[in-house]
Order: sequence, then C-alpha cells, then structure tokens
Amino acid sequence: MIWSWNTFLFGIYPYIAGTIFLLGSIIRYEREQAGWTSYSSQILASKRYMMWASNLWHIGILTLFLGHFTGFLTDILEWLGLDPVEHQWLAASAGITAGVVAMVGGVMLLLRRVLDPKVRYASRPMDIIILVWLLITLCFGLSTQFISVPEVIHDHVQNMEILIHYVRSIAEFQANPQLIINIPLIYKVHMFCGFTVFLLFPFSRLVHIWTVPLNYVVRPYQLVRSKIRSVV
Ligand code: HEM
Repeated sequence: MIWSWNTFLFGIYPYIAGTIFLLGSIIRYEREQAGWTSYSSQILASKRYMMWASNLWHIGILTLFLGHFTGFLTDILEWLGLDPVEHQWLAASAGITAGVVAMVGGVMLLLRRVLDPKVRYASRPMDIIILVWLLITLCFGLSTQFISVPEVIHDHVQNMEILIHYVRSIAEFQANPQLIINIPLIYKVHMFCGFTVFLLFPFSRLVHIWTVPLNYVVRPYQLVRSKIRSVV
C-alpha cells in the first residue's frame, strides 16, 4: 500500500476512530460512572419545544443510522427484487427525508443550547461541540445527494456501488481506500466527518446510547399509589 492522505484518512483513520470509540467507551464506563449520562437538560426547557426538537432529532438520526446499514443489505434487497437503481432511489428518498427531519430537530436543539442562558450555563463545551459536529456531518451527508440524485435520475449508480464496496471493505477489516481514490470530494469529506463522530463519541454525552434503557418498552408498569384514598 503506497502512503498517501487517501490511504491514511480512508484506510487507517477509520480504525483509529473505531479503536478510540470502543476502548474509550470501556475506559469511561469503568472510571467515570457518575458522568455516564445524557446530561439531559429537558427540565430547563419549554416542554413543547423540547418535545418537537428531541423527537425530530432522534427520529431523523435513528432512521439515518438504520439507512446507512442498507448498504450491507444489497444482496438481500436484490433477492427481494430491488435492482440497484431502485435501491438508490429508496436510499436517497428515505435518507433525504430523515436528514431534513434530523436537521430541523438538531438546529432547534442547538439554538436552545446556545440561546437559553440556563441551558447554556448547564452545558459543557463538548455538549455543543458534538452537536455542531453532527450537524456538519449531516450537512455534508445531505450535500452528497446533489451528486447522487442526478446520477440516479440517469440510471447511474456507479458511485453508490463503489461506496458500498469501500464501506464493506472497512467492515471486513480489509480496507481498500484505493476504491474511492476518484470519488467526488464531498463523499470523502462526509465520510471523514462520520468517522470522526466515532472518535469523539467516548468524550461526549453520546455514551448514553450504549445504555439506552430499551427495557422501558417492555418492563411492567410502575404502580404509583396516591396517598389520598380514592372514595369508591
Ligand atoms: C462512519 C460514518 C459514515 C459513513 C461511512 C457514511 C457514509 C455515507 C455515504 C457513502 C453516503 C452517500 C450515499 C449515496 O448517496 O450513495 C451518505 C449519505 C448520508 N449520510 Fe452518511 N455516513 C456516515 C455517518 C453519518 C452520520 C453520523 C450522519 C448524520 C449525522 C450521516 C448523514 C448522512 C445523510 C443525511 C446522507 C444523505 C442521505 C442518505 O443517503 O442517507 N452520515 N453517508
């Protein structure tokens, strides 16, 4: 492998970010249990505003997260009868919708964080840095669609196929950055920002994702009895 920025950023950096993501999360969990929290500031905001901002953000981001995995499912999608052009249409329409939803929610969260004096006072610098970084990543992700959509309109999915192979090569620990040497820059910038999210993850409030209380959905209801006995 010949050394170049492309090789470093897309062949080595993803593993540096991945290692920091895993080791950093473990070390933080072991050492800093008290700081393992989403640092929710919900209590400091108008309930209605926060409900919209938080729901739009989480729905958008989680849909994008799942959408990014469809790149690994091309064989299954083909088996289901979806050809690559249809796959790209589906990915672009769902991805753009989710991206815009997340952007609206994210901007609302950021505005509240910097403009509301109480929330700002309760925020650590990293709370703002990670939100801004996610929004930048989101902007570049959405910008890739200025290339992807015109391509798919002309039934071309060349870039998509190259990117799927590249991302797979990373996941299979056989990184092949040469695959994307000629890919338009905007995809590279977006992927670099995406890898960096993993690098920043253990130092941010994002760690709450590891311990999201999914059992809340299935656990039995909590019984809360009123002190005042109801008169039947
Ligand atoms: C390891 C991290 C990531 C990688 C490798 C990655 C890769 C990609 C690629 C290759 C595309 C273009 C798909 C196409 O048009 O063919 C894309 C699109 C997009 N990405 Fe990412 N991404 C990453 C993380 C993120 C994150 C963290 C966000 C959100 C904050 C995000 C938001 C988007 C959006 C909104 C689009 C456009 C809509 C879509 O195609 O889903 N990405 N990403």
